[in-house]
Amino acid sequence: MVRLVGISGSLRQHSYNTALLRAAQALVPQTAELEVRTLHGIPLYDADLEAREGTPQSVVALKSAIVASDGLLLVTPEYNHGIPGVFKNGIDWLSRPPADAARVFRGRPVALIGASPGGFGTTLAQAAWLPTITALGMELWSGGRLMVAHANSAFSEEGTLKDGAIQSQLGQFMSGFVEFIGRLARRSV
Ligand code: FNR
Repeated sequence: MVRLVGISGSLRQHSYNTALLRAAQALVPQTAELEVRTLHGIPLYDADLEAREGTPQSVVALKSAIVASDGLLLVTPEYNHGIPGVFKNGIDWLSRPPADAARVFRGRPVALIGASPGGFGTTLAQAAWLPTITALGMELWSGGRLMVAHANSAFSEEGTLKDGAIQSQLGQFMSGFVEFIGRLARRSV
């Protein structure tokens, strides 16, 4: 079984990105399972807080989930053509302390998707993630792309992905990512 962890970069209760992550959870191939995570409870990164109290429990728990996984799915909103601060802050905490960053991120397969009510569906936010993914030494799967534009009409009021074409794209995306993880695992034995 391929174990995936997906993180939604939005704290909003009715977030399109969390809804997209839940839809991805339902559409992973039978050979995989996807755990849905959010960034609730993670404080703003503050080196003084870290020196005083160490890594917050919310961050430790998320790190453990990622370490136990075979791959990470980042589900990103787009703010001002970039990465929302909440999401970057979460990844920054997860990369601390530096001696532990490799255990959490290095060589770990990662894929990016996102949803926005706008017409471009997080294209720029996804591009903005690339330097961070490179800095952390992750293995980006770039064999598929999924940007949900006009998210307000793609999801129902209850947060169900109701657009059949996007459902099909998302299913293919998740299958492609899981196959990529399998290829990487075979390469490293
Ligand atoms: C946005 N939004 C937005 N959308 C977009 O496609 N491109 C953008 O540059 C921005 N910029 C932006 C800045 C700020 C500060 C906010 C609060 C919002 C709209 C954004 O896509 C929308 O609020 C989504 O609903 C956020 O994702 P969730 O919370 O629905 O997952």
